[in-house]
Amino acid sequence: MGQSRVPSKLAVLTSGGDAAGMNAAVRAVVRTGLAAELDVFAVYEGLQGLVDGGDRITPMTSPDVSGILHVGGTVLGTARSQDFRTRDGRRRAALNLLEREIDGLVVIGGDGSLTGTDVFREEWPELLDELVTAGLLDPDRADEHRRLWLVGIVGSIDNDMSGTDMTIGADTALHRIVEAVDAIQSTASSHQRTFVIEVMGRRCGYLALMGGLATGANFVLIPENPPSADWKDAMCDVLSGGRTIGRRANIVLVAEGTTDVDGNSIAVADVKQALEERLGEDARITILGHVQRGGSPSAFDRYMGTVMGYAAVKQLLERPDDEPQLIGIQGHRVVSSPLMDCVAKTQSIAEVIANGDPVEAMQMRGGSFTRSHELLRTIVRARPRRIEVGERRLRLAVLHGGGPVPGMNTAVRIALRVAMDRGHTLLGVHDGFRGLLDSTLDEMGWMSVSGWVSEPGAELGTDDFVPDREQAAHMARQLAIHHVDGLLMIGGWAGYEAALALSDATAGAGRPWPIVCVPASVSNNLPATDMSIGADSALNSIVSDVDKIKEAAMGNQIDVVEVMGKECGFLALVSGMATGAELVYVPEEGLSLRRLQDDLATLQAGFQCGKRRGLVVRGGDPDAFYTTKFIEDLFEHESDGLFDVRSAILGQVQRGGHPSPFDRIHATRLTAAAVEHLIAQAQSEQPDSAMVGLRRGRVEFTPLADFPKLVDPTARRPRKAGWWMALRPIADTMATAPTAGTRAPR
Ligand code: F6P
Repeated sequence: MGQSRVPSKLAVLTSGGDAAGMNAAVRAVVRTGLAAELDVFAVYEGLQGLVDGGDRITPMTSPDVSGILHVGGTVLGTARSQDFRTRDGRRRAALNLLEREIDGLVVIGGDGSLTGTDVFREEWPELLDELVTAGLLDPDRADEHRRLWLVGIVGSIDNDMSGTDMTIGADTALHRIVEAVDAIQSTASSHQRTFVIEVMGRRCGYLALMGGLATGANFVLIPENPPSADWKDAMCDVLSGGRTIGRRANIVLVAEGTTDVDGNSIAVADVKQALEERLGEDARITILGHVQRGGSPSAFDRYMGTVMGYAAVKQLLERPDDEPQLIGIQGHRVVSSPLMDCVAKTQSIAEVIANGDPVEAMQMRGGSFTRSHELLRTIVRARPRRIEVGERRLRLAVLHGGGPVPGMNTAVRIALRVAMDRGHTLLGVHDGFRGLLDSTLDEMGWMSVSGWVSEPGAELGTDDFVPDREQAAHMARQLAIHHVDGLLMIGGWAGYEAALALSDATAGAGRPWPIVCVPASVSNNLPATDMSIGADSALNSIVSDVDKIKEAAMGNQIDVVEVMGKECGFLALVSGMATGAELVYVPEEGLSLRRLQDDLATLQAGFQCGKRRGLVVRGGDPDAFYTTKFIEDLFEHESDGLFDVRSAILGQVQRGGHPSPFDRIHATRLTAAAVEHLIAQAQSEQPDSAMVGLRRGRVEFTPLADFPKLVDPTARRPRKAGWWMALRPIADTMATAPTAGTRAPR
């Protein structure tokens, strides 16, 4: 008998340090495998479970992975296995797998675990021969499974792996860091203290750097950029400068494993001592430690874990001849790259860091890491740098348009700091375009945005107002009177429409005048970007509310939850995936009685087979007729006593709260690029207006004049389907109604 062309049976395991979102990946691997009619096994306790076998390698059913999406860590357990490091241990592991005819392996772990399993994969044919020789394995079975298929997913809070923009758990760890540092800020400010905070990341400063950007930390030390021996002077200069201008709190973030250029370790205690001795600061140390690995996964980690788990199984089944791949994401696209190339590159970065070469280490981390580091250095300055001689000081204005969203203040803060640092003046317009009509604008100072990095809402005020032709012409005159050279609009749909009207008015007046639009909308319905500022915060808000709604369920129950988004299904589809909804209704697809009947029948069948909870997530306006209340009443009426139905409309809550770490970082990067673009346009002979966006992980500009042709004005969303619509098959696979079946005995 010859070997098969695709894996016969599949096993999934988690290994190395746990990371929030691993469970989403496990759930996705199990459900995708089962949907492809494969037998799927879970390996408990990581690589040690492979060696131990027995009930540590257990067949899975769909209900076995129900209710784990919101759980932190890994429900499969993880362990650092000494046995698996030995050949004998790996031989036992091979036997344990082949006793169950498993020859496909999905490993969710860090670079060490992925390297270990790749060694196992390479040795596999020899291990099988040894088992046959020892009489432990039937030669026919060995022949049928001459190959071990392997695919890797990176689970690590450090975000230190090549081949993916993000690793599972990093976003959640940033949530924990941001929650903690936001909390520390208030006590630091009350006492005018300095806090020295250590964050994790063994050989990687990602968490410290992005945590610093997201919290407004005043000094950050990371392994990639080891400071020179006089780092204490540099740090004290920055912090004392801040005190001089009235900063009440100072926060220093130190990534564990940071050294100076000579390789001397920089511990939090060294930082505290330097601050006390040199500045007389009242300094305190907080080591965040394993708190960062804990807690419920963020919306992004649940969504990304799901997408990666699904892609890992597809990789094994649809491209089995590829060498072992690592599943990653680039922007919002799933990508796969040769596993061992990624591991080798990751390890070579670690070596460069260990050798203390800051230039190469920063370069190897990539453009956005370096750019973030530069931005951080600008923001923490106590005062702007001097304008270059010969450069004209521009007067730029900033305003919002559309509803308030988390992250707007973060964006204004960075706009001001970057504009002033380049030597220009920024005027804040209050209450959006209506404020511009009334000329309510004033000059902002360096410290006027202090603390705005985390402030909810929109401090400048915002409005839905869209000017008509005459009003737009009036606004253009106002801007001329105030000698404004360019405008930054940070907002949503109404803001884009108003910006376009104003742009037409200024062009008509004979002086084309630059406007740059920065997308900020919880609905994520704007063109020229994959993600708007505020959308990730809204997702997290929905996910945490739906978790509570599910926890409050009584008996057999279906919850119908309506989320925002109007005619755009982003929030519904992605939050549906992140909360494990059985049904997701999005406006792009519409709704019909037939569909509702079919879905009801599927739910009824599920509850007849022992299902106890159901979740339906619907977008704001999928159909004006089939309202949330209608669905609730229909399902309740037709429940046949199998379940109760309740509904919840989450409403404006989704706009509230502090911006998520992603939104703070996203707002910072997008707005910094937007201001630089605006400055360049304002200085050019032929200024142009643009929309900034993040496309496939890169910051890009699209002419504002393209807005009308890119959008469907009636549905108020881009003409082209959003990237999230491609997630529909994944959402459906995850929601496959559980069939009868009890948990297999462990
Ligand atoms: O690699 C993930 C990580 O959390 C690092 O950030 C940290 O240095 C390390 O694991 C801690 O490992 P342990 O949980 O074994 O102490």
